[in-house]
Amino acid sequence: MGGRSGDGRLRYRRDVGLPTAQGTCGDSDRPVAYRVVLTNPDAEGPVPFEFSETSVMIAQRQPDSAGLAPTDATLVVWKTYLQAGLVSTWASCVAPPRPAWSAWCDPLAGAIRADWRRTPMPREFAVIGCGSRANIGLNIPRIDPDAKVTVAVDPYDDGQARARELFGDEVRLYTDVDQMLAAETDLAGALITSPDCEHAEQAEKTLRAGIPTYLEKPMAIHTEDADRLLAVAAETGTRLFVGHNMRFMGVVSIMKKLIDEGAIGPVRAIWCRHFVGFGADAYFRDWHVERRYGNTLLLQKGAHDIDVIHYLAGAYTERVQAFGALAVFGDTPDKLPSKGLRYSDDRFPMNKGMAPEITGLNAELDMEDLAQVNMVLEGGILASYQQCHFTPDYWRNYTVIGDLGRLENFGDGEGGVVKVWNQRVNMAYEADREIAITGDYGGHTDADLLIMTEFLAYAAGEIDQTRVQSVAARNAVATAVAAAESMRNGGVPIDVPKP
Ligand SMILES: NC(=O)c1ccc[n+]([C@@H]2O[C@H](COP(=O)([O-])OP(=O)(O)OC[C@H]3O[C@@H](n4cnc5c(N)ncnc54)[C@H](O)[C@@H]3O)[C@@H](O)[C@H]2O)c1
Repeated sequence: MGGRSGDGRLRYRRDVGLPTAQGTCGDSDRPVAYRVVLTNPDAEGPVPFEFSETSVMIAQRQPDSAGLAPTDATLVVWKTYLQAGLVSTWASCVAPPRPAWSAWCDPLAGAIRADWRRTPMPREFAVIGCGSRANIGLNIPRIDPDAKVTVAVDPYDDGQARARELFGDEVRLYTDVDQMLAAETDLAGALITSPDCEHAEQAEKTLRAGIPTYLEKPMAIHTEDADRLLAVAAETGTRLFVGHNMRFMGVVSIMKKLIDEGAIGPVRAIWCRHFVGFGADAYFRDWHVERRYGNTLLLQKGAHDIDVIHYLAGAYTERVQAFGALAVFGDTPDKLPSKGLRYSDDRFPMNKGMAPEITGLNAELDMEDLAQVNMVLEGGILASYQQCHFTPDYWRNYTVIGDLGRLENFGDGEGGVVKVWNQRVNMAYEADREIAITGDYGGHTDADLLIMTEFLAYAAGEIDQTRVQSVAARNAVATAVAAAESMRNGGVPIDVPKP
């Protein structure tokens, strides 16, 4: 049986073939949280998991059969309960009690080392922009019971009402960032989840105030603003972390690991098709589809995939060319006046029929609903990204081709699979390797938990390296902005400016 040693290091034991961690809470007389840091020497840095007081959390590795972890059995860390001053118990189990929880695992994480650390101080966080994405702030106390959102900024009544719903009536409310900064001097971090056009200015303010900042993607809607943020982060030394949560999705982690292991040889081409089935409802009803607020959907949606393409290729885009059109939604009837930057409460649910039946879109919409982007990356890697907002289904399909094989994902969450072909055959449904995707059932819930876990550790200075680098976020912006420029100028090729 393992336990917590004096230096806080967690000891492992082997039990029915599975490594099991078990330990005591130590000396506290109140509920506390311990952080388990799982480190894989091949990954870019420690991948932290935090265990909260009442939740049952599971970290599960890819099974041997996937070929991703040939020497390690499945690891399941299962926290049953953690109570003040009592023994806290982790148990191993062969099958997770709820498959969805296995998504808390990250295939890049390994069970090589585990540390626990007490969270010493209550940490207070601010959320800036209290619309649908603000709920990522709810992950903070799930990860660390000694941390939570206590401050919120939103200029509108309905945003402030949502802040109270999400974070409690006691949340301290402000209508703008300056007002917040004048009153709040002890924030451990800020999450910026406001509309895209506000990101750069707001992040510059929080960074200059010395507040570690989680900034939602896209980092900015113009390349020069993203460059300015890089400069401000460097000048102030304040930690900036851009919310490219797709890097934490199981499907992306699996593809990245396969590529890094050489499963398809050197990467030559990446093709991404993005079927944005709920585009009309999620984006075409409000600010998301007005250029003045977001510039292009190649940023709002495409920044994710351009970043994933860069991540998988290990290279940034140098030259870009694109075509696009407002093919369908320009003609839909009964449009409604723009709501400006206000939250639009008719975005959800997102099942209001196919394009010809759709009404009530934003009358000011001026972005493309269909786009095709070609990219030349460093090292001559070719990539393409296709985005369509009126498909019936929603998912992303990546194909990565190397000298030694090709991989492709079918489905991008729990229940999907990544297939790898290494032999020359006629069309074959069955691949040479098939790796089941775990986590992110129906979205990116698990990736959101992982990315927030990493941000909390980064903001607290516990780690220095993160899976998302600000320069990568900047390069996703620069590529998308250049692609939009090409798309709006007859498809002329454009060199992507370097930072
Ligand atoms: N990483 C992801 O998976 C993911 C998912 C969804 C959204 N996002 C990002 O989150 C951000 C917000 O998107 P959303 O869908 O929640 O939008 P939303 O329209 O639902 O919410 C935006 C909120 O910001 C408020 N707001 C407007 N102007 C403001 C200002 N100047 N200061 C503070 N608040 C202001 C609005 O009142 C509204 O409550 C966007 O940048 C989007 O790209 C990221």
